[in-house]
Amino acid sequence: MSSSAEIRPDVFWVGARHPELEIFDELFPTRNGTTYNAYLVRGSEKIALIDTVKEMFTEEYLDKLQKIVPLADIDMVVVNHTEPDHTGALGRLLEINPEIEVWCTRPGENFLKQLFAQPMKTHVVSEGEEVSLGDRTLRFLLAPNLHWPDTMFTYLPEEQILFSCDAFGAHFCGDGLYKDQVEDFSYEFRYYFDTIMRPFKEKIREAVAKVEDLPLTMICPSHGPLLRREPLAAVRSYKDWAAAPPEGARKQVLMLTLSPHGNTRHMAASVRAGLEDAGAGVTEFTINELDDERVRDELERCDALLIATPTINHDAPPPVWRILSLLSSVTPRGKVGAVFGSFGWSGEAVKLVEERLRGLKYKLPLEGLSFRFRPTAENMVSCRKFGADFVQALEK
Ligand SMILES: [Fe+2]
Ligand SMILES: [Fe+2]
Repeated sequence: MSSSAEIRPDVFWVGARHPELEIFDELFPTRNGTTYNAYLVRGSEKIALIDTVKEMFTEEYLDKLQKIVPLADIDMVVVNHTEPDHTGALGRLLEINPEIEVWCTRPGENFLKQLFAQPMKTHVVSEGEEVSLGDRTLRFLLAPNLHWPDTMFTYLPEEQILFSCDAFGAHFCGDGLYKDQVEDFSYEFRYYFDTIMRPFKEKIREAVAKVEDLPLTMICPSHGPLLRREPLAAVRSYKDWAAAPPEGARKQVLMLTLSPHGNTRHMAASVRAGLEDAGAGVTEFTINELDDERVRDELERCDALLIATPTINHDAPPPVWRILSLLSSVTPRGKVGAVFGSFGWSGEAVKLVEERLRGLKYKLPLEGLSFRFRPTAENMVSCRKFGADFVQALEK
C-alpha cells in the first residue's frame, strides 16, 4: 500500500496503485497496471475530495484520508465522473459521513441515483461554477463524453491545477507519482486515447478549447502519472489527435473487401469503376492487410464505407466482424455505408452486415447487392451502377 502525497501545499494525492492489473475493465490490456488517482484539497474553511477510487481499494483510500483529516471534517466530494473506478469508495465514505455533499453534473446525479441505493446530498454544478473552500477555490468545467456524458473537469485556480478525470490519463503505474519520475509511457498515453477517448473527437475539441488557455502548472488525471512539466503538451496531443479531417472536394469512399475465391473482389472491381465514374475517390483494401489502427484512421478519413463480404456458413466471416467491431471506437467522418458480396449457397452475410451497420446508426442509401458465385457480365453492369448510385446518394 502506498502513502498519500502532498503535491502542493494542502493538496494531496490520495489515490490507489494497481500495478498488477493486466486488463483494465476486462477490455484493455495494460503493460504496467494502472492507478486510480483521487485528491484532497484542504481549504481554510472547507475540505473537498476530488473523486474516489475503485471499490477494492476503499479501505486504503479511507486510511489515507484519515491520516490527513478526520473523515467527519470533510465537506464535499467532487465526482468528476461516476464510473465505478472513480466512485468505488463513495458509498462507504458516505456511510461514514452522510453529511458530505456530492458535487457533480446533472447526468452525474442521474447515474449516481442508479448506481447507489443510499440517499446522498447532491449539488449539481453548472458550467464555470465556483465554490470557495476559504483560501482555495474549485471551478467546474463540463467535459461531456470525456469519458461518459457525466464527465467534468475541476480546476484549482490558486495552484493552477486541472483535475481532468479520465482525460489526459494513461493506464500506467510507474514507480513515481509524476510523469518526469517514470519511464516513457507515451505508448500507453496514445493507446488510452485511441481506445477510450477517440470515439468522442468532437467533444474532445470542445473540452480542449476550454482548457488550452487556462494557466496550468499541473494536470492531475485519474489514471497514470501526474503531469507537472509542460502539462499543456498533453492537451496539445489531444487537440492534434482529435482534429477534424480536412474537407476534400471529392467524396472519398473506403472499400474493404474479403474474397476467399475472388468472386466478391470481382464484383468490387466493377463497383469501384462505378464509384470513380461518378467522381468519387476510392481507397480500397483487402481486410486482412489492415491492422486495427489503420482501419480506424481510414474510417475517420473517408466519407463513406463499402464492405464487400462473402457468405461462409450462413454468416459474414470473422475478419469482417473484426472491422464491424471497430466502428464504435472511432468518430467516422460520415456514417454512410453499403454492402455487397458474392455467395455460394445462401447469402446471409450482406443482410447481417447491413443490420449491424444500421444498429450503429449508419445510413444505407442502397439495398445491398449480392450475386451467386462468379458474377455474370450482366451482374457486373449492376455492380457498376451500384457504385455510381452510391456516390449520387452520398452527394445528396
Ligand atoms: Fe471512465
Ligand atoms: Fe477511469
